[in-house]
Amino acid sequence: MTLPSINPTTTSSWKKLQDHFEDIKGVHMKDLFAQDPNRANKHTIKWDDFYVDYSKNRIDSNTLKHLLQLADDVNLKDAIKSQFSGEIINQTEGRAVLHTALRAPKDADFKVDGVNVMPEIYKVKQKIEEFTNDIVAGARKGFTGKAFTDIVNIGIGGSDLGPAMVVDSLQYYKNHLTTHFVSNVDGDHVNEVIKKLDPETTLFVIVSKTFTTQETLSNANTLKAWFLKSASENAIAKHFVAVSTNIKNVTAFGIDENNVFPMWDWVGGRFSLWSAVGLTVSLAVGYNNFDSLLKGAHKMDDHFKNEDFSNNIPVVLALISVWYNNFFKAESEAVIPYSQYLNQFATYLQQGIMESNGKSIDRNGKPIDYQTGTIIWGEPGTNSQHAFFQLIHQGTKLIPADFIGFTKSLHGNQDHQDKLTSNFLAQTEALLNGKTEAEVVAEDTPSDIVPFKIFKGNKPTNTIFINKLSPESLGKLIAMYEHKIFVQGIIWNIFSYDQFGVELGKQLASKILQEFNSSTINKHDSSTSNLLNYYKNMS
Ligand code: F6P
Repeated sequence: MTLPSINPTTTSSWKKLQDHFEDIKGVHMKDLFAQDPNRANKHTIKWDDFYVDYSKNRIDSNTLKHLLQLADDVNLKDAIKSQFSGEIINQTEGRAVLHTALRAPKDADFKVDGVNVMPEIYKVKQKIEEFTNDIVAGARKGFTGKAFTDIVNIGIGGSDLGPAMVVDSLQYYKNHLTTHFVSNVDGDHVNEVIKKLDPETTLFVIVSKTFTTQETLSNANTLKAWFLKSASENAIAKHFVAVSTNIKNVTAFGIDENNVFPMWDWVGGRFSLWSAVGLTVSLAVGYNNFDSLLKGAHKMDDHFKNEDFSNNIPVVLALISVWYNNFFKAESEAVIPYSQYLNQFATYLQQGIMESNGKSIDRNGKPIDYQTGTIIWGEPGTNSQHAFFQLIHQGTKLIPADFIGFTKSLHGNQDHQDKLTSNFLAQTEALLNGKTEAEVVAEDTPSDIVPFKIFKGNKPTNTIFINKLSPESLGKLIAMYEHKIFVQGIIWNIFSYDQFGVELGKQLASKILQEFNSSTINKHDSSTSNLLNYYKNMS
């Protein structure tokens, strides 16, 4: 069965939303709160250790009714079933999409081409566990008999962003191993990392689903060459491991087949941290914590699969985001975690959201005449309050924002935690209510300054309040956004699991690279030709 291919703008719910938008676009949320004392309770989903308040949005009960009908009109229920049952829903690449299987219990049944993939997944999980335990305990040693102290993850895109974000987010749970991430083909990146390494005690984890990615192979070769200055070829087996589907290329690189952690083509790069791509996470925080991350994601999978849409966190967040994207014409969304640990979270989400839903051809192969993927950005609060919040509060653009916070801090400094949380709550309150002219005047503001100090408010936010940042709650949070991406892709009638848009630049770069060493250059536009010649002369 294929995914439904329904143009959302032709549904009756879309038309209702268009009419309804005319009614609601001028309404201030302040008035909606004043009219309904129960508004916050009505628009809060409490699930497990998550408290999700979406009441500070420019919606009323009719908005939700129409949005939920939209979910039905595009057959979201069937699409969810198709995804979880291993159907080839990545139709443009001819693949199933089963990252959810990676975090499912052993006795689950996820079939690809009629074969249950769970035994294979658990075989690899066991390999990750044993390898992690050996490295962490110092039982597996380097070529001079010393225990490993440093891990270098070499990968890019989904083979870097997920592990890097999770390791950073879970640094509180980290063991003694120092982790490094090399991704950029910029040689200065790898060389800065090399400065910190000792070849005798460094383990290299090369992560590349295809094992053909230019950036990753260049960095891996540079690190191998550096390593071989101190060690012989047969030491590679002790120090280099790979995560890949391409065993042939991995072994050609010189890696022992026993040191390969397999993955599968039904795991997309940006959804792969749950597979052996998360090996560096497991090494950094220990296998049990890695497994808790997976268990948390699985809980969110169950919630998403089984919960009624009106109480379903990823579905509700996705629908609200469609409301802003397609009716209010919001250009971007911000994600503001009130935790320094989630410093890399928005960067990570950028790939998940923008690589998945940055599409302009629908599932019928036709150009799209409505907006799809949102631009996503963000930084932790409170730092971002002192950077870009001015524009969210008083700029001309509507920027819906997710505020993510934790009721408990990990180090337990209550004074800091209270200050952090007061900011977390105050910002969404300020964005909702703004500040009226009367309030500004009452502060004895000089009359010529009054207009500048008025805040219109009516800026939408979701508050995602979680008890504590743990491997499990982080797993839930990541999976929540993964499912939001899926729901939006279904509504927008696009294929969320391919990424052909990254290909063209790669192809042209490889042609240009050849021209650097050639006396002739191909025909380019005059700008590119000039730049190319300028580089050839200057480098
Ligand atoms: O950016 C494109 C992409 O294909 C991503 O989807 C993927 O995560 C990344 O490149 C890396 O690919 P690989 O794991 O095959 O090296």
